[in-house]
Amino acid sequence: MSARFLVTAPIPSPGLDLLRCAGEVTVLQDQPDSAFLRHLCASGNFDVVLTHTRDVIDAPLLEQAQLRGVANNAVGFNNVDIAAATANNTMVANTPGVLTAATADIAMLLILGTARRVVEADTMVREGRFHGWEPGLMLGSDVSGRVLGLAGFGRIARATAHRALAFGMDVIFTPRPPVHREVSLTELGEFAGKVKQVRWNELVEHSDFLSLHVPLTDGTRHLVNASVLSRMKSEAVVINTARGPIVDEAALVQALKNGPIGGAGLDVYEHEPALAPGLAELPNTVLLPHIGSATVRVRGEMARLSALNALAMARGELPPHPVNPGAWD
Ligand code: GLV
Repeated sequence: MSARFLVTAPIPSPGLDLLRCAGEVTVLQDQPDSAFLRHLCASGNFDVVLTHTRDVIDAPLLEQAQLRGVANNAVGFNNVDIAAATANNTMVANTPGVLTAATADIAMLLILGTARRVVEADTMVREGRFHGWEPGLMLGSDVSGRVLGLAGFGRIARATAHRALAFGMDVIFTPRPPVHREVSLTELGEFAGKVKQVRWNELVEHSDFLSLHVPLTDGTRHLVNASVLSRMKSEAVVINTARGPIVDEAALVQALKNGPIGGAGLDVYEHEPALAPGLAELPNTVLLPHIGSATVRVRGEMARLSALNALAMARGELPPHPVNPGAWD
């Protein structure tokens, strides 16, 4: 019998073509609600479901599901309950590597965009309020010579460090906040002597730009909360290209409104796609619609990787990028 795939939203080429060569593909055109997705996964009509970050693959779904695998079309997999997947012998796979540079580009764009007030400036021009060069018009802040603090030091953090160093920033990092983990010189590799490891409290207190690059887990939910925000520099900017719930967004709005911090550049939101009340009205923010990986090439590569993961799982083989490789043991 040929393999049967459920794809929860259309994916770019070559993803669907790869799947169609191997079996039957059902592509949902509208975002399924959780009851419908649970029903489809429990129907026994599909071997593998190809999901997106907005699909919640939780324990109740996984307990009823009759699936070999979940191919999540993202590097992050916080939308899938991995423990429940493993307990239910469901393999989960993701798409690491291909979106590293694109996401680091967006982190750098948010750093530059908040520093140089790009949204305010663009709006001023479009609204016809630009009446010629003025010495005090739209003054922002430098990025060179300022401190970028990286929360996390994985692939995307390192790619962001590369970009920031090229812009003359001083880069400090905490590999696994809020806990301490010493990174060896070998692990630092090419960054030895170029970036400095500090503890989480120092990262919070010394960063001019605090950029988040940790996965969303129970340990990182609300990593940036009111208490952390109150210890940041008054001009500091929070940059989030990772996952929204890492930041307590209501506390962020308060901190941006009343001080103590200077700005925020966000690509992800705590209750995505909803924004915390007041966030959209704040001028000292740059707000993007979760487009870290959104280039034509990268989205094609992600689709290819998730299709390859799905094909392998449908054949009963370990996928190229398993998240819980022991799921079928
Ligand atoms: C996007 O957010 C991803 O995790 O790939």
